[in-house]
Amino acid sequence: MKSLIQKLTEAYAPAGHEDVVRDLVRAEIRSLVDSVSVDALGNLIAVRKGQGRGGRRVALAAHMDEIGLIVSHIDSRGFARVTNVGGVRPLYAAGGRVRFTNGAIGVIGVEMRRERPDHIPALSDLFVDFGVSRAADVPVRVGDVGAFMGAYAELPGGRIAAKSLDDRIGVVVLIETLRRLKRSPHEIAFVFTVQEELGLRGAGPAAFAVEPEVVLAVDVTATGDTPNSVRMAVALGGGAAIKAKDTGMLVDPRLRDLLIQRAKEARLPYQIEVLEGGRTDAAEMQLARGGAIAGCVSIPCRNVHSPVEVVDLGDVEAAIGLLVATLSKPMDSLVIGD
Ligand code: CO
Ligand code: ZN
Repeated sequence: MKSLIQKLTEAYAPAGHEDVVRDLVRAEIRSLVDSVSVDALGNLIAVRKGQGRGGRRVALAAHMDEIGLIVSHIDSRGFARVTNVGGVRPLYAAGGRVRFTNGAIGVIGVEMRRERPDHIPALSDLFVDFGVSRAADVPVRVGDVGAFMGAYAELPGGRIAAKSLDDRIGVVVLIETLRRLKRSPHEIAFVFTVQEELGLRGAGPAAFAVEPEVVLAVDVTATGDTPNSVRMAVALGGGAAIKAKDTGMLVDPRLRDLLIQRAKEARLPYQIEVLEGGRTDAAEMQLARGGAIAGCVSIPCRNVHSPVEVVDLGDVEAAIGLLVATLSKPMDSLVIGD
């Protein structure tokens, strides 16, 4: 699984440019599903039919895209100025490297504020330096999109550092779930979405097409266990995070309780997540068409939206185990209608 994480996190897929990751995912799953399709937005939808009776129509969602930058203008000395594609944190961007769709690589410098040396940079203070001195030699154009670079690394303690673990780790969890799920009564759509980082733009149309009764997003969540971090009851290494609420969704308590029950039965570590800043694809999918019973299994992640996002492999395994355990059995507690 580590090699799959490395391959997918090193792949290039800023929002709206998901084709490289989509091709990698399709190659991994093609032989494991009954149908694979790509919609107009670029969502990859793979469906596995259910076996036996009493199944639900379930959608699992993980987003393929990552945050990035887009060139807004280029100055006469050959520095490209940029604005954000998704939730870029300028402090994390400064000092990093950015790779553009055509392969060009630049380093990110910061305008010095000599009068305020402790000034925290804004996006407008950043410039991309391609090592050239004239606008004519800049290898990108206005409107070109890039993604941050960040090498995959294995840290002590069974933890992985990489860029775009948000949400390539969710993509890995979906692929591994598909591999390990032997038998399921449910018809399951594995939905690999686009443009989540721009405001969950791919998920709604995908859910409209798939018409799920039950939706589960798999995405990263913040942790409350680093110095002066947000206050929340989620810690790295504490197990799969079963979401109760975030900014976009109150999870259906029946689905939350079903996930808790399956985690207990399978003796998998889990924790309950209330995220005060952030949303997932499930928020859009919950409200598509006539609505769906929606929940989310989250992977705790440090430094979200940085080139050094960190996850714990034990949490990843717990999330896969929880999805396999949940999808293997009926979901009789999820009644729709009366
Ligand atoms: Co994100
Ligand atoms: Zn995400």
